Amino acid sequence: MSNRMWGGRFASGPAEIMEEINASIGFDKRLAPQDIRGSLAHVAMLGAQGILPADDVAAIQDGLKAVHSEIEAGTFVFRRELEDIHMSVESRLTEIVGPSAGRLHTARSRNDQVATDMKLWVRDTLDNLDAQAAGLQQALAEKALAHAGTVMPGFTHLQSAQPVTFGHHCLAYVEMLARDRGRFRDARARLNECPLGAAALAGTSFPIDRHATAAALGFDRPTANSLDSVADRDFALESLSAASICAIHLSRFAEELVVWTSAQFDFVRLSDGYTTGSSIMPQKRNPDAAELVRAKSGRIVGALMGLLTVMKGLPLAYSKDMQEDKEGTFDALQALSLCLAAMTGMVRDLEPNAGVLARAAGSGYSTATDLADWLVRELGLPFRQAHHVTGRLVGVASGKGVGLEALSLPEMQEAEPRITQAVYAVLGVENSVASRVSFGGTAPANVRAQAEGWLARLAEPVA
Ligand code: ARG
Repeated sequence: MSNRMWGGRFASGPAEIMEEINASIGFDKRLAPQDIRGSLAHVAMLGAQGILPADDVAAIQDGLKAVHSEIEAGTFVFRRELEDIHMSVESRLTEIVGPSAGRLHTARSRNDQVATDMKLWVRDTLDNLDAQAAGLQQALAEKALAHAGTVMPGFTHLQSAQPVTFGHHCLAYVEMLARDRGRFRDARARLNECPLGAAALAGTSFPIDRHATAAALGFDRPTANSLDSVADRDFALESLSAASICAIHLSRFAEELVVWTSAQFDFVRLSDGYTTGSSIMPQKRNPDAAELVRAKSGRIVGALMGLLTVMKGLPLAYSKDMQEDKEGTFDALQALSLCLAAMTGMVRDLEPNAGVLARAAGSGYSTATDLADWLVRELGLPFRQAHHVTGRLVGVASGKGVGLEALSLPEMQEAEPRITQAVYAVLGVENSVASRVSFGGTAPANVRAQAEGWLARLAEPVA
């Protein structure tokens, strides 16, 4: 049988393999709610413009609602020979309503239809990701407030650098997520133009009202160029790009959790809810959720690369290549949603090991910069010279296998005679972090104020 939607000029049906490569129903059936919403807006507009008689409009509207109920109830039968969600809905509509269902497709094409459906799906998904990212920010800000004064080593090159607080580390991710949310919102704002009514590529001769359908579907305005309307997948690329950056942030944090939960670091404890045991080694508590968050960033970035490559070199306007936008976009944005949920759970349950962190914070000569700063502040040494004196003292201490605070005053004075007893105050980790009061610095008072500020902002109703 030739296709009943477009088979007029075909004598025989498609080859088996043609049907298989051509069909998207296996994955675009999830667009059913968006597809029916778009059709309802379209048919209402056709009625209001006098393009369709009122009785046909009413019959089609009732029929679309019936199809929607069947899909929701799981009784709708999806058939591969109907290719995609658009033709599946229309075919069932025809069975319910009769031949007048065929009037629904007046002044539109599957090209503007699918672009509209995808935009509606991506828009809802971006809103959900934004809300989930806010939830993760909240969990992190709460941890930050609870641990504003919990010291830990800060690293550069994964070498102990200077002590920081655990709260400060948490708030670094709150900032990253704020930028991620900004990108989700930017992408949403830019995508919010409605392609419906661009028809196949050139617009239509029917007196349609694109402003009305745009408004009915919650878009800010109709898209301005019919070719661009059906050829554009920037909204998917941009969302995948924002999702990729967010996934990379989560992956970096996940990597830290993997390292921190190792027996060698023992910085934090993940809850039983977010770890797994080993079938052979009874002592193990594996950070599988963190590892999977780290890994899923690969498929999210992969989806972005995949779609960029699909779009590259496509002449205007629509080509069937663009059907390949869906699986990657659905999969990647869904994976990010799962990662955000898993991270939020892990962070909520996470317990830093304060004793281990404090010991680690003091090791590796992490307060050497504090000593150099003291030499500058108290003795007026130029920083370069202070750096040199401190380097000598670190050498002496490491030769003896002790920390800087274990050197005697005479030993200190051998490197710089004007050093006094007062220097010992800055060699402590607590003093070190407390002194970092510059804007954005790690001092507990700063961290507490920033965490409280975030929690207050996150509690505000969304604009
Ligand atoms: N399933 C198609 C897609 O996802 C719908 C658009 C088909 N348009 C066409 N001219 N064949 O892209």
